[in-house]
Amino acid sequence: MCWIFWYRGKNDAVKILLHGLERLEYRGYDSAWVFVKKQSWDKSRIRAVGKVSALNWKVTDFLDAWYTQWIAHTRRATHGGVTEQNTHPHISNDGNRTIVHNGIVENYASIKKDLIKKWYRFDSETDTEVVANLLEEIHKDSKSMLETTQELQKQIRWAYALLIMHEGTPDTMIALRLWSPLVYAYNSEGEQYFSSDTQALSGYADKMIYLEDGDLIKVQWNDYTILSNGDVTKRDIETFDQKILEASKGEYKHFMLKEIYEQPAIIKRIYKWRVSFENNSLHADAFHGMGNESIKQITTVACGTANNAGWLWTYRFETLSKIPSHNEIASEYENKPFFLDESKLHIFVSQSGETADSLEVLKMLKEQGGKSFGVVNVVGSSIARMTDSGLYLRAGTEIWVASTKAFMAQSMCLLLVSLFLGKRRGMRLSKYQQIMRELEHLPSYIETVLDQTDHIRSIAMDLMQYKNFFFLWRGYQYPIAAESSLKFKEITYLHSEAYGAGELKHGSLALISEEMPTIFNLPNDEMFEQNLSNFQEIRARKGKICVIGDKRVEEADRQITIPETIDEIYPFLTAVAGQLLAYHVADLLGNDIDKPRNLAKSVTVK
Ligand code: G6P
Repeated sequence: MCWIFWYRGKNDAVKILLHGLERLEYRGYDSAWVFVKKQSWDKSRIRAVGKVSALNWKVTDFLDAWYTQWIAHTRRATHGGVTEQNTHPHISNDGNRTIVHNGIVENYASIKKDLIKKWYRFDSETDTEVVANLLEEIHKDSKSMLETTQELQKQIRWAYALLIMHEGTPDTMIALRLWSPLVYAYNSEGEQYFSSDTQALSGYADKMIYLEDGDLIKVQWNDYTILSNGDVTKRDIETFDQKILEASKGEYKHFMLKEIYEQPAIIKRIYKWRVSFENNSLHADAFHGMGNESIKQITTVACGTANNAGWLWTYRFETLSKIPSHNEIASEYENKPFFLDESKLHIFVSQSGETADSLEVLKMLKEQGGKSFGVVNVVGSSIARMTDSGLYLRAGTEIWVASTKAFMAQSMCLLLVSLFLGKRRGMRLSKYQQIMRELEHLPSYIETVLDQTDHIRSIAMDLMQYKNFFFLWRGYQYPIAAESSLKFKEITYLHSEAYGAGELKHGSLALISEEMPTIFNLPNDEMFEQNLSNFQEIRARKGKICVIGDKRVEEADRQITIPETIDEIYPFLTAVAGQLLAYHVADLLGNDIDKPRNLAKSVTVK
């Protein structure tokens, strides 16, 4: 996966591009480059493996306002290793086409085979270089660059956001999009941009156009044309109203910590838009379009952390809304039948709104006429635009690669959906009122957990010496244990597994020893006593246990105490405890928390 940022204008382009790349850093990458061009004979490709900072010293010779064509790009390796040779842009054999690409061309291997037979040579292992040479090959038979590109669209199979420059038409840039995000933007100064992420554009562009799947855009100075299936088409021009990205960590050591601490404020922000505690009501407007009367089944679909959030609330769609529900991991669900009917609602949960696996399912669902609802953070993203209706998370920009505050916001929005549906389906008024009361206290409950950060760090000091961990759960705590275990893996690089407390005795108890500690989500709910029996099974085998719960468990080796509340609210608190635990273990191990290895913020390839 790669992130594209292209600029053309009269200002100091190298500064703008490096700034754009720094803003895209949070998405995860392993190499970066800029490509600069003054005249056709005067162009340079400056590439660096590693961080954007590695590029800084390399570009000093190019700080020259006469360079009018600039592209910058970060790459996270998919085809071929992390080497300068595989770093973009890729240039066709005749040197006439320069290509930058985000996505994966699935049929690249067979195309490459054919091109090799025609004596094309390849300097890299990438699918992008295959596209560059395929363009050269097609161009031999076609008349214009536009026709060549249209033919290319027919020959390559998804997914891509592609920028193509051709020496014969130096003032023209052609871009294509199919399933990888791409925005064209400009401002009143005549500056033009392409970006795969609107964050890079904030403060630069006034207007932007989200390209749609299958679009081809031809950009010249002060002019552009969009073609869809060969016909000239118009797309909405949106005004860029996002505040300048707040990319500062402030007083916090890492973005992860900052975003964990933002969570109480985000919950309050969601309340401001969706909940009125004065008259105990939800702002129904926000839930419109769900077709709530007819829903008889709900399926949540998502990936990673968003999947854990979707999954968590399937429990409450059943207990509060009385609607049979289940969760599907998007990359698996696309290979199963949907069994659609009018009464089935699919809820897509996503921070970025661009995750390829989720989008693939949504596309298939739409083709079959299924109903969809989005719970998405990034305004205007693909999932937000393609779902029939939905809620925005209002979590603000999430910088840290692995998700924390978006998880909290997803969970809150889904709880509100379950309450909204429940209220219309005969949920007991006393239950509704109890949840509303506890919701009002939730931000302060979370602060109580956050206040224990030093205590959690001391637990992390004990835990950091181990290599394998169980995160135990029962019932609705399963998705939280899965999420805590995922966070733990993502940044500590230690092995962990979420496991059912009741299931442990059916085999995996064999792993319990002094060497394998357990983090036990153990709130004082109706499963508390049952969980205590499992607790004893572990103790009997000398396993160390850290409890996350509200009731003191005397025999626990360590405990993170959360405020006493109700089952619907506990997950928010056990989740925050899990986030802090992962953070402190990773920090104590000296890991680069804000740039965790092998992770990307938004995975736009399958
Ligand atoms: C990637 C990220 C995860 C994220 C998942 C789903 O794997 O590393 O943090 O949870 O994608 O992303 P989405 O943007 O759809 O929530």
